[in-house]
Amino acid sequence: MPVTAIVGAQWGDEGKGKITDLLAQDADVVIRFQGGNNAGHTVVNQHGTFKLHLVPSGVFNPNALCIVGPGTVVDLQVLCAELDGLEKAGVPTGGLRVSDRAHLLMPWHIALDRLDERERGRQKLGTTGRGVGPAYADKVARHGIQVYEVRDEKRFREHVARELETKNAILERFGDKPLDARETADDVLRAAARLGDRIVDTLPLVEDAVARDARVLLEGQLGAMRDLDWGIYPYVTSSNPLAGGAAVGAGIPPRYITRVIGVVKAYSTAVGEGPFPTELHGELANALRETAQEYGATTGRPRRVGWFDAVAPRHAHRLNAFTELAVTKLDILGTYDEIPFCTSYELDGRLTTDMPPTALLERAVPRYEKLAGWLCSLDGVSDRRGLPKEARAYLTRIEQTVGAPIGMVGIGPERTATIL
Ligand code: IMP
Repeated sequence: MPVTAIVGAQWGDEGKGKITDLLAQDADVVIRFQGGNNAGHTVVNQHGTFKLHLVPSGVFNPNALCIVGPGTVVDLQVLCAELDGLEKAGVPTGGLRVSDRAHLLMPWHIALDRLDERERGRQKLGTTGRGVGPAYADKVARHGIQVYEVRDEKRFREHVARELETKNAILERFGDKPLDARETADDVLRAAARLGDRIVDTLPLVEDAVARDARVLLEGQLGAMRDLDWGIYPYVTSSNPLAGGAAVGAGIPPRYITRVIGVVKAYSTAVGEGPFPTELHGELANALRETAQEYGATTGRPRRVGWFDAVAPRHAHRLNAFTELAVTKLDILGTYDEIPFCTSYELDGRLTTDMPPTALLERAVPRYEKLAGWLCSLDGVSDRRGLPKEARAYLTRIEQTVGAPIGMVGIGPERTATIL
C-alpha cells in the first residue's frame, strides 16, 4: 500500500478534511505534517460536523494512529480543547500522538502575529491570527521551543523566561501587554501534563508503519498558492503545504510517497489577502458564498470566491506531480446555465498558463472559456458516467487544463457523497 499525501492545489480550504476522513477509514496512520491551528478541516460524518484545527482528520477511525507531526507548530492548549470537544462528542482519541520534535506555538506568537498584522496596516497579510507565522519564524531563527522540552520543567521555565525578555520588549515597545513568564509556562505545562505520554518520538512509529506496509496518509493544510516558497509571497503561510514538505514534516523518506492526491474545489476560494485573479464581487459572489457556505472554518471570515482558475492547480501539479485529483463541491455549480472557466492569464499583452510572481499576478487578467452548466442536482449520483454530460465535460476540462486525472468527485458534504 502506498504512502499517500493529500495536499491542497489552490488557496486552501479545498476540502482536504473530507477527503482525508474518507480515506482514513482504511488507513493505519494519518499524519499532519505542517501548519498549526490556522487549519480548519471540516469533517461531516456519523458523529456530527467537526472543524478540526490540529487533530488529524483520521481521528474518526478508532483504529488509526493519528500523528501531529514534527513539521507542525502546536498550541498545546488548543490541542487539549480540541481533544475535549471530540471526547465529549463520543469520538475516541486514544490514537493521537504528538511529535516531541514539533515546535510549541506559545502565547507570545499569537500576540506577535496580531501586533505584526496591526503594524502592517493596509499591507496586512490577513493571517488567521493564531501565531503560526511567528512560531515558524522563531523555529527558523533558532529561538523555538520544541515540544519535548516540557519534560524538563526547570529548563522549560528558564527557556520561556529567556524568550520573553525579548518578546516582551517588542510587545511593550508597540504598546501591548507583556506576558508573565510564570503564568505562561504554567499554562503550557498544564496542557502538556494532560497530553502526558501522547508526546513521543514519532519517527520509530512512522518507520515501523512503512516497514510493515501499513497504510499511511499525510494530511496537508492549506494549498500550493499559500506555500512559503511557491505561493503568492508574502501572502502565504510560513510552511510548505506541498508533497515535498510532507516528507520532511512527517518524517518520511520522499521515495516512499507514491500517491499524491491534489484536492481542488470545482471553483475557487481564498481567505486572507493577496491576488486572486478570478475573484467575484457583488451579488454573484454573495450568491455563491451563501450556496456553498464559504466561511472560514477557523476564523469564520467570509471566504473570497471566484470561478475555477486552472492556472493555480496546474502550478500545483507541476510542483506535486499529482497521481490524481480529488474535485470537491461540484454540486455547488448546479445553478448556472453557463460557467466561466479560467484557462490562462493575459499579462502585459501575452497569454500565459505559468503562475507569475505575486506583483505580476496582481495585474494578470484571467481568460475564460464558457462551459455549459447542468442545471440540476447531483444527489444520488454514484459514478462518473451517471453525471449529466455537462458536468462530465466540466471535469474533463479540469483534467485537460491541470494535466492530472480525476480520481474522486465530491457532490455533497457527507463522506458518502463522493464518486470514486
Ligand atoms: P497564517 O497561516 O495564519 O499565517 O495565514 C497566512 C495566510 O494563509 C492568510 O492568507 C490566511 O488567511 C491563510 N490561511 C491560513 N490557514 C488557512 C486555512 O486553513 N484555510 C485557508 N486559508 C488559510
